[in-house]
Amino acid sequence: MARVGVALVGCGSIGSAVHLRALGRAPAARVVGIADPDAAARARAQRIAGRDAVASADPLELIAHPDTDAVVICAPNAVHAELALAACAADRAVYVVKRLALTTVDARAVVAATEASGRAAAVGFNHRFHPLHRRARELLRAGAIGRVRAVTTAFCEPMPVATMPAWKRSRATGGGALLDLGSHQIDLVRWLLDDEVEQASARLQSELSDDDSAELRLELGSGAVVDGWFSFRSGRCDWLQLVGDRGVLTLDRYAPQLRLATARCDIGAVRRGTWPAFAASRPWQLRKALRPAWEPSYARALRAFVAAAGGAPVELPAPRDGLRTLEVVLAAESTAIAEPLVEG
Ligand SMILES: NC(=O)c1ccc[n+]([C@@H]2O[C@H](COP(=O)([O-])OP(=O)(O)OC[C@H]3O[C@@H](n4cnc5c(N)ncnc54)[C@H](O)[C@@H]3O)[C@@H](O)[C@H]2O)c1
Repeated sequence: MARVGVALVGCGSIGSAVHLRALGRAPAARVVGIADPDAAARARAQRIAGRDAVASADPLELIAHPDTDAVVICAPNAVHAELALAACAADRAVYVVKRLALTTVDARAVVAATEASGRAAAVGFNHRFHPLHRRARELLRAGAIGRVRAVTTAFCEPMPVATMPAWKRSRATGGGALLDLGSHQIDLVRWLLDDEVEQASARLQSELSDDDSAELRLELGSGAVVDGWFSFRSGRCDWLQLVGDRGVLTLDRYAPQLRLATARCDIGAVRRGTWPAFAASRPWQLRKALRPAWEPSYARALRAFVAAAGGAPVELPAPRDGLRTLEVVLAAESTAIAEPLVEG
């Protein structure tokens, strides 16, 4: 079967180091080329993609290349919508890393264009493809902890200001911990629980860059409540704990670990069955132990997208999910009390 010709647009840290390498290893994909206005980023990416790959400063030129079937967009958030619309106009499948757009007007335009195109389209909520999260979803759907009442979560990536890309320091250009990190957890909770957010509120702190820590509270249609902490100024972590009426499910993406705790009897003696591991996870747990930085969800998400672009019936996080997550972030921000931590 012919491989899907993929164009990578945006060759910064995540584009080159993660997406380009993952696409290079995907048997069903052929990297047609890379595009980035920055010459150094282009040169770095070309070394990874190889000499046969087209290298262009102009993303539109690469999108229009006759060998391009699908476009993977890893540019900064502010240009996601215009690039996604250009890919749709050229009749290409499109994958946009998370934050579909900065405004709901732009996000709706991308949803409309991708749905009208009939081509595969995905927003890069790669955490849905992590084996821990997929197993958790199966357990929740099978009723392992009953009706979920409460979720607590934290996702923090400590990042010195000096190493943050300029766009990430300012909320206006798509930075901020709630938009950057919280978006993943908002999407995960909706997907894990098959539920929708009805109320959202937040408190934001700007310590060294705009909104670099955020506290989020959600109320879901089922009545479940979600409390989250997202920060560029806290220790590295990514976990969720779901409390149901029959047990507790805990996921830790960095450990990585999944624990299911259910009471074995109704009386006060707290005997619990715990399920710290599951057989299918052993190979990637071993790989993670050997290479702690290894993260399986990006490659799995991209392979699913390439398969869908090639015509396979694969379920992808849709642009509509990106729009919904953005709506939730904006609704939460509209309630936020901004708390700049200024000394003296
Ligand atoms: N897990 C995830 O979902 C995840 C993780 C990290 C980053 N991201 C997203 O990936 C995107 C890039 O993040 P990063 O950390 O690599 O940023 P970065 O600043 O390191 O890289 C962005 C690159 O895009 C290039 N660029 C700028 N304008 C462009 C344009 N019009 N066309 C093509 N390229 C352009 C820049 O020159 C730069 O090389 C952001 O949207 C970010 O939110 C997603």
